[in-house]
Amino acid sequence: MAPVRIGVLASGGGSNLGALLAYFAQPEHAAVAQVVMVASDRADAGALDRARARDIPAHVINAPADGDAICALLKSHNVSLVVLAGYLKLVPAQVVRGWPGRMLNVHPSLLPAFGGPGMYGGRVHAAVIAAGVRTSGVTVHFVDEVFDRGAIAAQQAVPVFEQDTAADVAARVLQAEHALLPRVVEAVAGGQLTLLADGRVTGQLLSIPS
Ligand code: GRF
Repeated sequence: MAPVRIGVLASGGGSNLGALLAYFAQPEHAAVAQVVMVASDRADAGALDRARARDIPAHVINAPADGDAICALLKSHNVSLVVLAGYLKLVPAQVVRGWPGRMLNVHPSLLPAFGGPGMYGGRVHAAVIAAGVRTSGVTVHFVDEVFDRGAIAAQQAVPVFEQDTAADVAARVLQAEHALLPRVVEAVAGGQLTLLADGRVTGQLLSIPS
């Protein structure tokens, strides 16, 4: 069976994209899925440079609210699984509906905590420190029309230490993101993890990140 064709949307430096590219460069994972295109709402996004470095088509999304254009772009590459890897724009509902159960997002907290509009990047970890919680982590979830609300596919916790700064938490969570996201993408691509019509997620990962 041909590998599942992944399209990645990213707004920033693309370290999560980098983790995906490294993971699916490995033959046993490349057989399951491969990143076939990358798009960003920012022409200067490092994620686009990472794609170009691997000769993967890199596109700028000039109108992030234009569902027709984004659908057409994804379809032009026969994308069957969409991954939001640090994508900061709301995906138009039309696009979400075009890939039911086939769109994933990575969020740097244990949703539903520290999620929702405005909770992205450093703001998440500053809120974690301010709240004095002792555990944070990463959530990979299916995307629906509301920011960070979709059904949870997998989570990985990380400790928050007393002397931590928001930057310390960000670095520890980012490491967990890089370990978890590719495994969830592979499990969804391979059919081990599925979003059911009633919104429940069934199945499990093939391997739990160390
Ligand atoms: C990550 O922290 C991710 O959880 C959030 O945005 C950040 C993206 O970082 N959605 P990068 O661009 O993948 O390095």
